[in-house]
Order: sequence, then structure tokens, then C-alpha cells
Amino acid sequence: MVQVAFVGAGGIAQTHFKALAGHPDARMVAVCDVVAENAERAALACGMKAYSDVTQMLDAERIDALFLCVPPFAHERLEETAAERGIHLLVEKPVGLRMEQARQKAAAIRQAGIIAATGYCLRYHDVVDKAKEYLAGKPIGMIRAHHLTGFVQTPWWREKAKSGGQLVEQATHIVDMTRYLCGEVNAVYGLMHYGLLDHQQGADIPSLVSVGLEYASGAIGHIDAACIQPDWRSGIEVLGRDFRLTLSGKTLTLTERNRTVIHEGQTASVFKEQDDAFIEAVRTGDPGKLRSTYDDALRTLEVSLAAYESAETGKKIELAGSRG
Ligand SMILES: NC(=O)c1ccc[n+]([C@@H]2O[C@H](COP(=O)([O-])OP(=O)(O)OC[C@H]3O[C@@H](n4cnc5c(N)ncnc54)[C@H](O)[C@@H]3O)[C@@H](O)[C@H]2O)c1
Repeated sequence: MVQVAFVGAGGIAQTHFKALAGHPDARMVAVCDVVAENAERAALACGMKAYSDVTQMLDAERIDALFLCVPPFAHERLEETAAERGIHLLVEKPVGLRMEQARQKAAAIRQAGIIAATGYCLRYHDVVDKAKEYLAGKPIGMIRAHHLTGFVQTPWWREKAKSGGQLVEQATHIVDMTRYLCGEVNAVYGLMHYGLLDHQQGADIPSLVSVGLEYASGAIGHIDAACIQPDWRSGIEVLGRDFRLTLSGKTLTLTERNRTVIHEGQTASVFKEQDDAFIEAVRTGDPGKLRSTYDDALRTLEVSLAAYESAETGKKIELAGSRG
């Protein structure tokens, strides 16, 4: 049995509790939240012990695997603390807000040799496998992606210093998906618009973002994000000669000159697939089925943060990750 604990007992932690409930190889033993009632409520619901101090929890319990479900600004030294104790990690996206800090965490994880998965759950959709299969060996010309939604009312979300803004915190899923399907990004251009959010008190995040991308393959692309929309649209289009791949939610559409094929995804819960893969990796010591590791997620963060740097400096940003 893999002994599991959680840091952060908010929205995404609830999703993991559900995904792990009744797991044949995992036992949820403890949960820690700085807001004691949040930890207590979760502990009561899932038969765990509640803590409001991480060190106390790790000293008191035998933990094999720790889920970090705290907001982006609250990672502090959590990864390093787990790594020092040889505890395996599933870190929710985004893995941080500053490259320097996230790189230090990655180094601590590598040095400790622990398994470190990240919460890029969309990689676990069956239609994503189909999309990857379809694109294998095909030259790609352009990637067009968008994440156009309404505002998230979670208190920390509106503050750039706490969430990183929509691109870093939420649209990160599609930034990541373009990398997963189309390969690494070499350079980034960013445009940010800060208007139209005056009705959201204290908001200092961009309302609209447009990111230009140069991929290592030579493909070009762009990602648009908006958090002022009345509804939710998110998806990716990949264009090549005489074909187009469109992925939106669970629907994959493949368009060629004389035919269009639509695949409807069957994966019931990407969170369950992801958490099962993580528990198996911890149980067997084989990370082979993980689709997103900490090092991989670092590159997605780098793309998003480079968009800010580009918008601030007016320059194209070449990525360090692309130089290896
Ligand atoms: N993979 C996904 O699809 C997905 C979906 C939603 C959220 N997330 C990510 O999960 C993370 C958490 O988001 P959320 O929606 O659950 O936020 P939330 O605000 O609902 O919950 C966060 C919880 O963490 C607690 N917390 C804050 N700082 C802490 C600390 N230092 N130690 C212990 N507990 C602490 C808060 O009290 C709160 O209970 C974010 O990084 C978010 O981007 C991922």
C-alpha cells in the first residue's frame, strides 16, 4: 500500500480525494492545510488525520507519496522538504511562479532521486494519444491554441504575484498540450492587455494575452487567452499540408482534403488515469507511465513566464530550455 498525504485541501485536492478513493494500492492517511478547518473537513470525509503544519505531519506519519495542492504562490520549500525525506511527489500545475526557484526544486528532486509527477492531467485523455499517433512523422506548419473563459473568483487568482495570471495558472494546460503534441518551443513573443477588468476588485492580471511561438521543429504558432468571456472555449488546432488536427475537450477532429474523422474521447476521468499512473510509479519505482514529470512541467512554465518577459521588454525571448 502506498501511503498518501496531501498539502492543501481546496478545490483540486477534492478531485484527487475522489480519484484515489478505494484505490487498491493507495491509502490516504493525512492532509495538511494552513486553514485548519479545511484539513479537518477533508480528514473527516476521507478517514485521514488532519494537520496544519507540514513538518509535523511528515514527522508523525509514514508517507510514501505527497500531493502538493497549494496555490502557485505557496510552494515555499515543500518540494525540497519532501525530497530530503525521500517522499515522492505529485505537484499541481503550475509548478511555480519563478524559474530560478522552480529550477532549484527540480535540482533537489533529481538529487534525491524521487519520482515527481505534475498535474498536467489533460495528457491522460485517450484522444490525446490518438492525436499524438496521427501527428507522428508529419511536418507541422502552425499551432493555433486558445483558452477563452470567464474570470475565476478564487481569491488568490486575481493577483499576479499569487497566481501568475490566467496564462500561467490556467491556460498553462494548453501551453503544455502544444508542447506535448508539437514539441519544444524555442522562442516566445508576448502581448498582454490589462484592461476590461476594472469591475474585478484588486485584479492586476492581464485580461487578454496573445503569445507568439517559434517551435524547435520550425513550426510557428500562437496561444490566445482571455478571462473576460461569458462562456468557456479552449482548444488547439495543428495545421500541416492538407491536414488539420483540432482538439477541444474530449473531441478530436482530423480534417483532410476528402475526409473528416471525428473521435470522441472515452476516458472517464483524466485525474484518475493520472493518479493511477503516479501511484503505480511509486509502487513499482518505474516512472514509465507518467506523462508529465517535474522537469517537463518546468519547460511549460518557462514558456508562460517568457511571454510576460517579452511583453515587458518588447523583445523576443529565446528559451534556455531549448538550448538543453
Ligand atoms: N490539474 C488541474 O486541472 C487543476 C485544477 C484546479 C486547480 N489546479 C491547481 O491546484 C493548485 C490549487 O488550486 P485550488 O483550486 O485547489 O486552490 P484552492 O484555493 O481551492 O485551495 C488551496 C488550498 O491550499 C491551502 N493552502 C494555501 N497555502 C498553503 C500552505 N502553505 N500549506 C498548506 N495549505 C495551504 C488553502 O488554505 C486552500 O485550502 C493550483 O496550483 C491550481 O492551479 C489544478
